[in-house]
Amino acid sequence: MEGNFQEGGFTIPSKGLYPFQWKWDSAFIAIGFAHYDIEKAKMEIRTLLDAQWENGFIPHIIFHTENDSYFPGADFHRSELHPQSSKKYRSTGMTQPPVTGFVLQEMYRIAEDKESMLAFIKEQIAKVYQNHTYFYANRDPNDEGLVYIYHNWESGTDNSPVWDDIWETMNPPEYEFERKDTTHVDASQRPSKREYDHYLHLIDIAKEHRYNDDKIAELSPFLVQDPLFNAMLIKSNQALLELYELIGGYEFEKANLMAWQKKSIENFNTKLFDPELGAYVHYDLRNNRLIRHISSSSFSPLYANIPNQERAEILVKTMMDKFGGDDKYLCASFDPKSERFNPRKYWRGPVWINMNWMLYYGLKNYGFDEVAKRIKNDSIALIERDGFFEYFDCRKDNGETTRIGYGGGDFSWSAALLIDLLKT
Ligand code: GLC
Repeated sequence: MEGNFQEGGFTIPSKGLYPFQWKWDSAFIAIGFAHYDIEKAKMEIRTLLDAQWENGFIPHIIFHTENDSYFPGADFHRSELHPQSSKKYRSTGMTQPPVTGFVLQEMYRIAEDKESMLAFIKEQIAKVYQNHTYFYANRDPNDEGLVYIYHNWESGTDNSPVWDDIWETMNPPEYEFERKDTTHVDASQRPSKREYDHYLHLIDIAKEHRYNDDKIAELSPFLVQDPLFNAMLIKSNQALLELYELIGGYEFEKANLMAWQKKSIENFNTKLFDPELGAYVHYDLRNNRLIRHISSSSFSPLYANIPNQERAEILVKTMMDKFGGDDKYLCASFDPKSERFNPRKYWRGPVWINMNWMLYYGLKNYGFDEVAKRIKNDSIALIERDGFFEYFDCRKDNGETTRIGYGGGDFSWSAALLIDLLKT
């Protein structure tokens, strides 16, 4: 984490592979810093929120510096096309899961000097609230309390097999470009060229309309209600409510937050739960259908207290039946029993520490202490054995004698969240 900290007051996810500030990375990183350098934790969040647009939007990558080791960079994304984009920083025109609300609350939980942390929260909370206002005003065309994402990179789970169902509905042009990620990481662990064509095409459609939300909602072939993204929003709503309680006042904001919570949780439970699979799934808003695959995102609603106890038990049973065999570490990012599962490839199977961290607290919420303990111990064991990598093979025996993790090395959130797990 120290090695990845930059002069501009933010931390990059991993040297070489990810040389800028990423939204949800920064938030998870702040949780780690809060345990030993509270000022750095505050700085991380301040820098992130400083890049907020005038309409409340917070971008997924903030390009603080010129760096040609990453594609697609600032010149491809061209955030300046949007009339309300930040005049201070160039960024992407897409976002990532809304984690900043609950991260402020986590920082409050961890901080020893509560008064000073509350003063910091008072200074920043309006920005997070504005961000939620942005989502409900612009990303919920049917007024369901469920917001859409228009790009797989907005989900955080970049190349999940869930998106294959969307790619089948598209036929983007063949782009010519120079990949940079595969100069840092073995290509077998990264998305394919054809997948990148889809990713770039979606950005081009949004750019053609200057990142206008209404146009994106009307035209983007990718329009998905993602259970992870919406669970993070709901968890952050709850955190904002509780933080406003602590601060006192803010009746207007609290009333809105309560109304959002009610609608969001209700529709989340009716629309995104698949009783046959025993799991929450994604909804393809463009083609009006459920995308019926189980991924680690399917269990994330536990973290936001979305299911009732009975449904939580069904979820944990699904998790243990499909992901929890003795030959595996918890929790694979995609259903190990599916033919789309790939234990080495990014979000198509490997274990990610941020998801494990979320599931740990989610399982505790419902009293599944044994499974929570296992997920914590598995996370520690993987990092101990394989190093501070970006993602990990869930198989206890993959036929190799020397094991290492996959993707980027010295990965910041793996370190940050390990600190939190060890201190809990
Ligand atoms: C990858 C991950 C994404 C993360 C980013 C930076 O793109 O899929 O979730 O934010 O790397 O670490």
